[in-house]
Amino acid sequence: MNPYRDFDNYDKEYPNEEGYFGKFGGNYLNDPELKKAFQEYAEGYNTIAHSARFIHELRRIRRDFQGRPTPVYHCDRLSRLLGRTQIYLKREDLNHTGAHKINHCMGEALLAKSMGKTKLIAETGAGQHGVALATAAAYFGLDCDIYMGEVDIAKQAPNVARMKILGANVIPVSHGLKTLKEAVDAAFEAYAREYKHAVYCIGTAAGPHPFPLMVRDFQRVIGDEARAQFIEQTGHLPDKVVACVGGGSNSIGMFVPFLSDPVELYGVEPLGHGDKFGQHAATVTYGEEGVMHGFNSFMLADENGDPAPVYSNASGLDYPAVGPEHAMLHTMDRVKYVTIGDEEAIEALYLLSRNEGIIPAIESAHALAYAIRICKEGKPGSILVNLSGRGDKDLDYVIEHYGFGEGTPTKDNDDTFMYR
Ligand SMILES: Cc1ncc(COP(=O)(O)O)c(C=O)c1O
Repeated sequence: MNPYRDFDNYDKEYPNEEGYFGKFGGNYLNDPELKKAFQEYAEGYNTIAHSARFIHELRRIRRDFQGRPTPVYHCDRLSRLLGRTQIYLKREDLNHTGAHKINHCMGEALLAKSMGKTKLIAETGAGQHGVALATAAAYFGLDCDIYMGEVDIAKQAPNVARMKILGANVIPVSHGLKTLKEAVDAAFEAYAREYKHAVYCIGTAAGPHPFPLMVRDFQRVIGDEARAQFIEQTGHLPDKVVACVGGGSNSIGMFVPFLSDPVELYGVEPLGHGDKFGQHAATVTYGEEGVMHGFNSFMLADENGDPAPVYSNASGLDYPAVGPEHAMLHTMDRVKYVTIGDEEAIEALYLLSRNEGIIPAIESAHALAYAIRICKEGKPGSILVNLSGRGDKDLDYVIEHYGFGEGTPTKDNDDTFMYR
């Protein structure tokens, strides 16, 4: 008996027309100009993005430019090292630009172009979303303004250089803490001023309606492909599917096609240094319901309701809120949200690198670390992990803080190696 048959019509039911996933989501922006801009965007999305021409063009871009479909890969050597559970990876790290972010950036940019807009606006923290969006802008010949806090600009010099080489304007934000929150505010203000010729492109499945819906739909290519590929390779569904959760884009894209299957779903949040306020960014696990950046969801806030300081060694996971669909899936108990700390993620990064020849992003290593924890229980079964990105961007940081991973166990005895 499949306990999840109630989810058969899930994506037709959620979100509703106002962008609510149960009580989460919506659009809480007060600025009337921004309200108008988002209204126009939602209408554009509902009509243009569902046309046969749009769908056909996005498929072509994904195949010819992004390199999709990305493979599902069986980690035979790592699985044998860990015991009886079989680990499989959905290789989103093999996308052009090295992570899943390009999936929704190409969709958002194609929509902008189809709506007759000439500019893309976004904020970026670590620079990953900025680089993916600058790439999309270059592909479509659109202008691109990326707002970035001065502190982040100094920390993320290689990504700033990539965005500039791709032709984007990186606009420094110099007030407040000079990091992501101020950059989000500055990008929203720019959108309110410029929406007649520009669109705002969010970096994750969060924000006011229609972003959580739009990003989910553009990212679900991950789960749609992975589900079909896994069944083709093994003849059955995986027992468990695991993905890391920052704002929630790679995980929601992975989970949605599995919601009505008898498959356990795990969203992995960053525990950073520990469970005290300020040490982590585990929003679903430790946060509370509230409104931030124009939408209602779980968030980590201070006593004034402002975004709390959050921390993880994965800069793509240290966001103080989570996409509203995750908040709903948590309250429905359909996805289990669990945590992994800095050190365990780095151990997973080394294990995968040394046993399979794949260096994952620290974000993705959080998901892998949870799969490894399950493997250590020693039971037979299969786990499909979304490897959301590659680790090249993290290497300097990893070497400086953790070294080269000497002493990591490897599966030496390869007597059982066969041509697969
Ligand atoms: C490789 C990678 N994985 C995961 C994330 C987390 O974002 P999300 O939860 O939106 O997938 C990021 C964010 O920058 C990322 O770069």
